[in-house]
Amino acid sequence: MSETEKGTETGTGTVRAATRVLEVHEHRAALDLFRDSLHMPPVSDADWPVLEASLEPASVRGAFSGSGSGSGSRLVGVHQATASDVVVPGDARVAVELHHRFAVRNGHTRSGVGRSLMTAALRSATAPLAMLRASEGGIYGRYGFAVATRCRELVVDRRRARLSEHVPAGHHTYAPAAGEIAALLPVAYEGSRGGAGTVSRPGWYEALLTQDLESAGGFVRAFVHSGPEGEDGFARYAVRRVGGDGPAARTVLEVLDMHHGTPQAWAGLWRSLLDVELVDEIRARQRPLDEPVEWLFTDPHVCRTGAVDDETWLRLTDVGAALRARRFEGAGTVVIGVEDALLPANSGHYRVGPETAGGAGSGPQISGSVAAWSALYLGAVRPSALAATGALRVHDPRALKTADELFWAGREPWCGTYI
Ligand SMILES: CC(C)(COP(=O)(O)OP(=O)(O)OC[C@H]1O[C@@H](n2cnc3c(N)ncnc32)[C@H](O)[C@@H]1OP(=O)(O)O)[C@@H](O)C(=O)NCCC(=O)NCCS
Repeated sequence: MSETEKGTETGTGTVRAATRVLEVHEHRAALDLFRDSLHMPPVSDADWPVLEASLEPASVRGAFSGSGSGSGSRLVGVHQATASDVVVPGDARVAVELHHRFAVRNGHTRSGVGRSLMTAALRSATAPLAMLRASEGGIYGRYGFAVATRCRELVVDRRRARLSEHVPAGHHTYAPAAGEIAALLPVAYEGSRGGAGTVSRPGWYEALLTQDLESAGGFVRAFVHSGPEGEDGFARYAVRRVGGDGPAARTVLEVLDMHHGTPQAWAGLWRSLLDVELVDEIRARQRPLDEPVEWLFTDPHVCRTGAVDDETWLRLTDVGAALRARRFEGAGTVVIGVEDALLPANSGHYRVGPETAGGAGSGPQISGSVAAWSALYLGAVRPSALAATGALRVHDPRALKTADELFWAGREPWCGTYI
């Protein structure tokens, strides 16, 4: 049964393609469509089993051109939503749908197919939150998503780096054999996960990441930190020679995936990475903005920041449930107004405070789109900053300071999982 029919008005634009959840036997074609849109060749028989496992039944939607979605129509778009949970301020783990593999066949783009798929996926959401990574920043705001976590690239001049005397030694850091990594790191991830923005990794994640990293040509190794209560941190890395044979040639240790549950684990892992011999530079992409790496060194200039980028985008799909799930700081209460054309049931007024978060009868003191409230949800930005841009409209100026206190999350949210 198709969910949307050709020509249906959604209220936010015209839906021009029929969509439905795909059967398992259609998954390989859907994956190849996605790969083609990213200019990648069709999946090889050798790689297919690992990818097949990541296409969970009932998680993949297709869009069809022609009449309906049956025989005679052609698959022109794909979208996948994987069930997970995300840590929110206050430490609750809240159900989230991770949106990925969103693509429209070349030759069919910019004609409403992507909108049909995204609309169908959001309207059938069963979790209060949806999350994704954006290939381009202009795509997702119109669907109510906003940047919710950000990250920075770190570059450490390893030859000049000297650790300060005060840096903890860590408990016990070890280098597992290559064959042990796949079993150990998912355990270490669960033992180290905790900050707002981190998500549970699907069972297939480790095998898919390993396959991706191997096809990128690196020899991947890891350090694991073991604390008093077991594995509580890890750093996955690869060492590459870059810059050709000329004077710019150098050996770079790339940190690919790193999480820690305690300060001891974090310091111990950085010590081990810095101790790897025959390395000129350490590059760590997509690290938390507030990771205090500069403060490890006697000379903070050995560590510099490369690009700062958005990491994940979030959308509140059930605003009331999402607000009830996170902790709000301070003592005040604010009534917020939410506008959501795509999911109209979210539109309305909500009372937000440390004790209450839910429906409110009175008029809003601050109002904005669901995208604006989604940006604030994990704490990546303050209400007063969004008010300055006009993304939030302040009807009662006294409420803005209270909103800043309420939405304060204590630290930068960060995900660190690449789906
Ligand atoms: C991104 C993609 C899925 C969008 O699908 P689509 O069918 O082209 O999108 P639609 O025609 O439904 O467009 C809906 C709106 O998004 C806009 N849009 C589409 N792609 C965009 C892009 N790359 N950047 C900015 N806006 C974009 C359209 O202009 C349209 O705007 P409107 O609301 O003002 O009318 C498709 O272009 C694609 O497959 N791109 C390559 C793969 C990719 O980047 N996937 C995303 C991975 S995160």
